[in-house]
Amino acid sequence: MQRIETVEEMQVLSESIRMAGHTVGLVPTMGFFHEGHLELMRVARRYSDTIVVSLFVNPTQFGEGEDLTAYPRDLDGDLAKARDVGVDCVFVPSAEDMYPEGYQTEVRVRHLTRHLCGLSRPGHFDGVTTVVAKLFHMVKPHLAVFGQKDYQQLAVISRMVRDLNMDIEIIGVPTVREPDGLAMSSRNSYLSVEERESALSLSRSLTLARDMMTQGERNAATLREAVEKEIQSRPFTRIDYVRLCDPNTLEELETIENEALLALAVQVGKARLIDNCILRSETS
Ligand code: PAJ
Repeated sequence: MQRIETVEEMQVLSESIRMAGHTVGLVPTMGFFHEGHLELMRVARRYSDTIVVSLFVNPTQFGEGEDLTAYPRDLDGDLAKARDVGVDCVFVPSAEDMYPEGYQTEVRVRHLTRHLCGLSRPGHFDGVTTVVAKLFHMVKPHLAVFGQKDYQQLAVISRMVRDLNMDIEIIGVPTVREPDGLAMSSRNSYLSVEERESALSLSRSLTLARDMMTQGERNAATLREAVEKEIQSRPFTRIDYVRLCDPNTLEELETIENEALLALAVQVGKARLIDNCILRSETS
């Protein structure tokens, strides 16, 4: 497995892989790998000849007072895990190389970012789309793999790729969970034992909403209140949002006709956790 640290080296390597007629699959990450990240790499492996995993804790997607400096890091552990799943190249650019002196360009997806995490984390998605667009130019992948756990991120990136005619296939991978249902996240490492127990209320509340749908509930407010009650009944939790929205536009729904995205963001102790699922009526 190759480890590459400069943009120039990365571009030269990708160009040579493409010239040899091989396909490149990219998995962008901020490191501190868990099974969710590794699953993305395995999916990339299935669809491309060469896998590049980028590892960069992107400062521009963190807001003031967020956890940029506390964000967990373990480069040696990450390299070993990536090697084990058969990654060909790990790209670890420096912040100076990513945003050199004088840097001033941004990529913004206008409407999809006005909902959910876009409201609570102003500027977050501009940071994400900009760094992902840059990574696409550095790695020149044929396809890139993202997790559905960050549903809005996947939607925003897919929109960017369509809108800017980027010739890259975007693949979404279902959320990987711990055996007890907790969605895997690098930020779970912030949780104490008691907080982790409370964090289970996120996935439990998704199951609760699914059960209510099965029993015929279609009113978004009723579903939202039940989800909120389930989460608020646990200590250490502070809800940022619980929303039922159209899975394509992310506009809030009042009634669920066919399907809805149920998306949650909850502060549990020091960790801001997100989770989601698609609710479907039996007829759809
Ligand atoms: P990061 O949080 O490291 O996540 C990297 C990728 O792993 C994302 O596509 C994310 O959706 C996916 N992922 C995280 N947890 C997952 C889980 N439990 N199951 C499946 N996939 C999961 O997302 C980012 O980094 C950054 O915003 C990035 C796209 C790299 C841009 O900086």
